[in-house]
Amino acid sequence: MTNKELLNKTLTERFGHRPALFIRTYGCQQNVADSERIKGLLLECGCIECEDQEKADIILFNTCAVRGHAEDRVFGNIGRMKAVKAEDQNKIVIIGGCMVQQPHIADSIKKSYPYVDIIFNTNNISELPGRILDYISSGKRVLDPACEEYTLNEGIPAVRDSLRCRAYLPIMYGCDNFCSYCVVPLVRGRERSRRPEDILREFRECVDAGYKDIMLLGQNVNSYGKKDGSETEFPDLLRMLNDVEGDFVIRFMTSHPKNATKKLFDTIAECSKVSRHIHLPVQSGSDRILKLMNRHYTREQYMELIDYARKVIPGVFFTSDIIVGFPGETEQEYLETCSLIEEAQFYAIFSFIYSKREGTPAAVMPDSTPHEIKAERLNALNEIQRQVTEKLELGLIGTRQKALCTGLLGEGSYECRLNNNAEITVDGKGEVNQFKEIIVTDYRNRRLFGKEC
Ligand code: 5AD
Ligand code: SF4
Repeated sequence: MTNKELLNKTLTERFGHRPALFIRTYGCQQNVADSERIKGLLLECGCIECEDQEKADIILFNTCAVRGHAEDRVFGNIGRMKAVKAEDQNKIVIIGGCMVQQPHIADSIKKSYPYVDIIFNTNNISELPGRILDYISSGKRVLDPACEEYTLNEGIPAVRDSLRCRAYLPIMYGCDNFCSYCVVPLVRGRERSRRPEDILREFRECVDAGYKDIMLLGQNVNSYGKKDGSETEFPDLLRMLNDVEGDFVIRFMTSHPKNATKKLFDTIAECSKVSRHIHLPVQSGSDRILKLMNRHYTREQYMELIDYARKVIPGVFFTSDIIVGFPGETEQEYLETCSLIEEAQFYAIFSFIYSKREGTPAAVMPDSTPHEIKAERLNALNEIQRQVTEKLELGLIGTRQKALCTGLLGEGSYECRLNNNAEITVDGKGEVNQFKEIIVTDYRNRRLFGKEC
């Protein structure tokens, strides 16, 4: 009997029926993609998906550690498991993901959250069935967060949420960049890339399943394959996927500026199915802070990249990530970030107040700016961005666009995503996951409107 068959039998005996599985995912797209594989694996072990946490037999949290706020939310929800287990000891509570890869968090779960039964490591999802079996056969909690090997989670089927128009496709795992504020390299391990043929196979499966928006995922897609000396660099991969037959948009996330090249932008320009949207996190507009962050580029180099891309890819939209209040950031340095936002003309930013992460170099850097000042700065920066976004959206009025219907609204209109990632409400009768040719007609209440051509 395989581990999967054994787990199927053991769980069915425990619950007296096929176990209902509830998964809650926190954090980034990579975590969503991991959860889709966790789900795929556990459904193969006989579980059935359950959307109601109350009714589930197995409750699994896939956690995020990137900022303290995400961790607080997870702890709040884990705390609620006390009552769930008190009512029914048979239920199984499982925690995986970045948060529990931090020794101090795993320790705290061991000591203070006795109703968590199993911790597992998402860097090796295939170990999960064995851990559940160990827990059931021993009756003891299984809490070792380590795994034997950091893998590519290859061969585990992803069960994607069919309501989501976008398919997430991991092309690499881990991160070797060690930005000084970031916990990701500590919890997700060293960078490793999937083989092009495995990516191509899964990409084709997504296209065949009807996905029209496929997003390639990695912490730094621009270093794809480099470490393994692969012949296929990221631009080559894009070209290969662009050649797959079908009508779809290819997106990718995240591009690190230090490895973004002219070849990348030239390739995007030549590949009609690659979206005219690039997420290129800058983090700060100050060279001193960028250096302290260990980002390996200057503001000037960043702007050169943007300028070049805009020259070769007409109409491209950039989005970015920004950290406000990095340790020691002065008012002047913060203002440099504000001016960069205007200069770079991002379509949108994801902006965060710096959050201290244990074990990272920035955690021991002196930081005297009060939180309230950082919060005020964040608000002011977002206001600047709001105006830039508005200007870019107004600039779309009158343009003809290919739009993907992502949801239906009442009253004869529907929601779409444009190739450049802008969202728009379109008049008419849409069908989810279908492309439409539209004209952008209006901008009201921070929203674009359009009509079919
Ligand atoms: N504090 C605040 N923001 C962070 N990010 C990563 N680590 C931290 C941190 N410690 C942000 C970065 C990154 C995004 C995914 O999260 O902007 O690009
Ligand atoms: Fe964190 Fe930097 Fe790696 Fe992104 S590239 S995951 S910010 S260390």
